[in-house]
Amino acid sequence: MASSRSADLPDLTGRTYVVTGANSGIGFEAARKLAVAGGHVVLAVRDLSRGEEAATRIEGSTEVRELDLADLASVRRFAETWDGDITALVNNAGIMMVAQGRTADGFERQFGTNHLGHFALTNLLLPAITDRVVTVSSGLHNGPQLDFDDLDSERKYNPTRAYQRSKLANLLFTRELQARLASSGSGVVAHACHPGYSATNLQSHHANPVMNKLMWVGNKVLATSAEFGSRPTVHAVLADLPPDSYIGPSGFQGMRGEPGPNKRSPAARDDAAARRLWEVSQERTGVAFPL
Ligand SMILES: NC(=O)c1ccc[n+]([C@@H]2O[C@H](COP(=O)([O-])OP(=O)(O)OC[C@H]3O[C@@H](n4cnc5c(N)ncnc54)[C@H](OP(=O)(O)O)[C@@H]3O)[C@@H](O)[C@H]2O)c1
Repeated sequence: MASSRSADLPDLTGRTYVVTGANSGIGFEAARKLAVAGGHVVLAVRDLSRGEEAATRIEGSTEVRELDLADLASVRRFAETWDGDITALVNNAGIMMVAQGRTADGFERQFGTNHLGHFALTNLLLPAITDRVVTVSSGLHNGPQLDFDDLDSERKYNPTRAYQRSKLANLLFTRELQARLASSGSGVVAHACHPGYSATNLQSHHANPVMNKLMWVGNKVLATSAEFGSRPTVHAVLADLPPDSYIGPSGFQGMRGEPGPNKRSPAARDDAAARRLWEVSQERTGVAFPL
């Protein structure tokens, strides 16, 4: 693949992509590129009207389906009503540094939405997936370890830490998913990616309103566009890569330049933590690896 810009993509006719959170930001831009290149793109969104509106701005074959990752019943409904092959599942949706809250199933909101919802969705859809699973993490995964004694941040809630841990969980999930796919003999691969720093709606829901103002300034001054941020995702979806690749902008601090392999933190390379997270996620969601 020459690059991850729309004009350079191969013909994707006959392929189906499910993109979570595709009504906005990076997910929207990735969905748009995949559809323009001929793929059939399913916009998996929590608000159907926002999804329908986004679909009107995409040229090509799209379909809007309801998916609330903060509600396992909704995740199960999405999977139960799915029929047909999925070339790639793109676990893109996310929330960042929001006020403390719980998902419908009682999980801390960021861990529940960003990790557990995608964990359940992936395992439920896996029998239909033919090529790969791409999960969008973040450079901010770098920092903390997971606290297995307090995955729901009940002892102390710090919105930034909770976000960082959920993005670390995205990488550990990808690692263990790849290990399980390989040992089951499946040809499906798992990759992760991150966009660098792109101005999207993500930065406007911080628990502290002052931080929203600061991030608004940051978005104007430092951030790249959502289109730029979608390039690593599209690259991870389409390029021929070693299993469990982690793709991000390859230039300045993972913020600029063409998509390429990026370094992950030592905590994100911890196989024992990845296995433990998998077991805990399986227990909490009631969804197991199906292959
Ligand atoms: N932008 C960056 O600089 C940056 C950096 C690193 C990583 N990321 C990651 O990139 C991904 C995309 O974020 P973005 O920057 O494009 O932000 P965004 O514009 O806010 O998009 C996030 C998407 O996730 C959806 N979403 C949120 N909660 C959901 C739920 N419970 N169920 C289903 N969908 C839900 C949102 O839907 P609504 O529109 O209905 O809210 C929206 O479509 C996230 O995983 C984020 O962590 C972004």
